[in-house]
Amino acid sequence: MNELVVKGNVIYTKGMERFEVFENSYLVAIEGKVEGIYKELPEAYRGLPIEDYGNRLIIPGFVDLHIHAPQYLQRGLGMNKQLLEWLSDYTFELEKKFKDLDFARKAYEYFAEDLVASGTLRACIYASSSTEATETLFEILKEKGIGAYIGKVNMNRNAPEAILESTEDSLKGTIYLIRKYKDEPLVKPIVTPRFAPSCTQDLLDELGKIADIYHLPVQSHLSETKREVEWVRELFPNAKNYLDVYGKSGLLRNALMAHAIYMEEEEIMEVKKRDVFLIHCPDSNINIRSGIMPVREYLNRGLKITLGSDVAGGHRLALNDAMARAIQLSKLINMQSPELEPLRVSEAFYMGTKAGGAFFGKTGSFETGYFFDALVIEDHPLVAELYSIEERLEKFLYTGNSQNIYARYVEGKRI
Ligand code: GUN
Ligand code: FE
Repeated sequence: MNELVVKGNVIYTKGMERFEVFENSYLVAIEGKVEGIYKELPEAYRGLPIEDYGNRLIIPGFVDLHIHAPQYLQRGLGMNKQLLEWLSDYTFELEKKFKDLDFARKAYEYFAEDLVASGTLRACIYASSSTEATETLFEILKEKGIGAYIGKVNMNRNAPEAILESTEDSLKGTIYLIRKYKDEPLVKPIVTPRFAPSCTQDLLDELGKIADIYHLPVQSHLSETKREVEWVRELFPNAKNYLDVYGKSGLLRNALMAHAIYMEEEEIMEVKKRDVFLIHCPDSNINIRSGIMPVREYLNRGLKITLGSDVAGGHRLALNDAMARAIQLSKLINMQSPELEPLRVSEAFYMGTKAGGAFFGKTGSFETGYFFDALVIEDHPLVAELYSIEERLEKFLYTGNSQNIYARYVEGKRI
């Protein structure tokens, strides 16, 4: 049997309201899953080798539900633009280059290495429209040992010819990748219409059928900017609203929707009914001035809110940065509307671990039965001496980076 005992200061969130803290304790994982956390190691586990992390923190790995892998090279550029201009002036130009497989391999290696370094152990990733380059990304991420969903991006209109495909080719490439990777244990396919304006109705309808036939999840963008919402209304006059474009095509069964800043009441109710995962991407929303997701209001209404870096709308991969930024943005809202409480540290942490982790099954927490997907955090000895476990985690979220990450585990295996 595959048994693992790690020792250190274990901290995670079971609910959003507070942290669960186990100072100087033993965590036992069996077959990759958490069995329990103990102050004294139970008799049954004595004699097993202990990976002793001393005074370091042991926290759940980060879960990033929205990243564009090809855009990693573009971080920090075009940040004076808004979404649609930024897409056409920077993003689409860069995504053209991913037809060159040698370029794609180098760019995706760079991305994957930094992703793992940053502490993200589960991610939902957009590749480009190139089927071959997407295949390359699957192979690279399989090597890294983290969990991921990867989508070849479907687009058959409203972008430069070089990155568009016919409906038929777009579907053919999608099915090829699904058949090749659907039974992989850690890196799996996800249906990825870029966003409604990139796809014709027939492409969306066919993608909905594919998601249904192969029982696959779907990821896309929803109501990121006001202009985009207007455009969707013009392009799909028969839909009730933006969300309904996806709903009509059967794309909301197991869906991730990024941004969702400008939803109508009817959309909010439908998101709740369909149990859609909404992804808050704070850096991106600031950088390209999209708006601010009303996170507190959504949480009050019981919506499922998770976190994404949205590289390269977001300029940083590290999800601890996204957690801190989500808190900062919630304070801006609070300064305007004092009745909307800012996010607590435990709430932001929960969004980027357990809430997002639910998309992958049981990860993002250390409750019994959850996968042991973990980061070991090392902070400065003086910080460790001065502050509580909870304060040390808070400090890491605001000021930490990959250099503070001492070890990484996915399903109980050190990677
Ligand atoms: N909407 C459609 N495509 C994109 C993209 O690549 N990034 C962001 N932030 N929004 C989008
Ligand atoms: Fe995005």
